[in-house]
Amino acid sequence: MRKKIVAGNWKMNMTPTQAVELVNTLKPLVANDEVDVVFCVPAIDIIPAMEAAKGTNINIGAENMYFEDSGAYTGEISPKMLVDAGVKYVVIGHSERREYFAETDETVNKKVLKALEHGITPIICCGETLTQREQGITIDWIRQQIKIAFLNVTADQAKTTVIAYEPIWAIGTGKTATTEQAEEVCAAIRICIGEIYDQATAEAIRIQYGGSVNAGNAAELFAQPDIDGGLVGGASLKPDFGKIVCYK
Ligand code: PGA
Repeated sequence: MRKKIVAGNWKMNMTPTQAVELVNTLKPLVANDEVDVVFCVPAIDIIPAMEAAKGTNINIGAENMYFEDSGAYTGEISPKMLVDAGVKYVVIGHSERREYFAETDETVNKKVLKALEHGITPIICCGETLTQREQGITIDWIRQQIKIAFLNVTADQAKTTVIAYEPIWAIGTGKTATTEQAEEVCAAIRICIGEIYDQATAEAIRIQYGGSVNAGNAAELFAQPDIDGGLVGGASLKPDFGKIVCYK
């Protein structure tokens, strides 16, 4: 049985002061040991959020990292910095990073390998545009994203990773994929992982759905056989996040 994992993606929201307040507000609401709970927060919020979350079930994650250990990369955050701060999860290749910051499947792959090298669990994002969905190439597109993201990743490493399927047209739009659409793609991702590796790896890997997950739709989405939780943007900034984590 795969343990569910529900991660909040705060995006570029919350000052360090607000981050501490939000962690304190959500702390009692997300206390559910049946689910891995992660708050992926802006880099500057990591340390104060970590302090505020001490002694709780909340894991603090990062929203991005660079694929080198250190050096002349002004403005970037290295995996070593994340590890030193106690970070265990990092979102890699979110569609906003791909759209606004020129991330590609190739840089996603480099970051995935680097995160794994440092023992950080990557939450690897993939997803199609509305045009791609309407063209009927969703599954082909996602399979390509997955194959490139996992290049040179071993089966043992792959088992520890998390994949987030996030249809771009459903992010921040209030337009959730239907349960069938979400399950169809998550199942296809699992098949793809089985083809790259083996059945055991496919069964071990956790696949989240993301895109307008809220307190009203989480239970149905997370009940699907291939959906192992969610990556949650907007609703992760509100007390409603507690209802998503405690969806049962
Ligand atoms: P949303 O964002 O929940 O606000 O749609 C999801 C995400 O971008 O991870």
